[in-house]
Amino acid sequence: MIPDVDNDSIVYLNGEYVRLGDAHISVLDRGFIFGDGIYEVVPAYRGKPFRMEGHVSRLLRSLDTIGLETGWSRDQWERLILDMLARESRGRDVMLYLQVTRGVAKRDHPFPAGVRPTIFCMVAPFARVGEVRETGLRTISLADIRWHRCDIKSVSLLGNVLAKQAAVEAGVDDVIQFRDGLLSEASSANVWVVRQGMLLAPVRDHHILEGIRYGLLEELAQARGIPFESRPISRDEVAGADELMLTSATKEIVPILSHDGRPVGTGQPGPVYRALRAAYDEAIAAL
Ligand code: PDD
Repeated sequence: MIPDVDNDSIVYLNGEYVRLGDAHISVLDRGFIFGDGIYEVVPAYRGKPFRMEGHVSRLLRSLDTIGLETGWSRDQWERLILDMLARESRGRDVMLYLQVTRGVAKRDHPFPAGVRPTIFCMVAPFARVGEVRETGLRTISLADIRWHRCDIKSVSLLGNVLAKQAAVEAGVDDVIQFRDGLLSEASSANVWVVRQGMLLAPVRDHHILEGIRYGLLEELAQARGIPFESRPISRDEVAGADELMLTSATKEIVPILSHDGRPVGTGQPGPVYRALRAAYDEAIAAL
């Protein structure tokens, strides 16, 4: 039994629907041994997936980038997601977690031949962000020590775990990571900067995971007439930002109101955040 989870919920594992408490994989799974796999987190509201096509595109891209062949089509991934939501969401707001590893094989670094990938999917209830919409998050700066392929949604998340733990130990909510003096991202979210009315985000390269909310925010900003630019952002620009915010599947969009112990802008949620937050809520309501 795993504490704090619903062991009776039904999960998908390698072609079968089983109780979470009965779902087992081998200790030789390459996900366990090497962190050799990728994952997705898809939010669903009232049981309906939000931006599923984008998540499946990123899943296919991650699989392709690490040379993990499943033989599954886009359609099959979408059917798995919809099927899991139909079975387990019960019309609630949930997050769907999907993981694919290179399967079970003798411990040896090269890709194994003829091995079936491990495919796992579960759904867990998720509470939408509440008062933090107004109270905001506190962050600190941190050196980004992760590898150079942060664009792959890899299950090898040690760097992200250490970053988040650094925030916990500093008594704040998250970190803002910098590599060579330039903004990358938070421990598990993208970071947005507002300066003089302009919404800025780091370039979509291999130093960040391009969130599904990256493209979404671009669209929402355009619809609301907020100018947007994707470009390298320095540490000084973050320190002097009018607004800072972060986005992820589970956090949606939240303001950062204190960074490195100083208030961000006025220390209150700013106008660009408010406009994007309202647009995000509208997109969910329209599902
Ligand atoms: N994390 N950057 C990193 C390192 C992330 O782990 C995430 C998401 C994002 C935002 O991506 P998206 O908008 O697609 O959620 C950016 C998920 C939620 C997680 O690991 O739980």
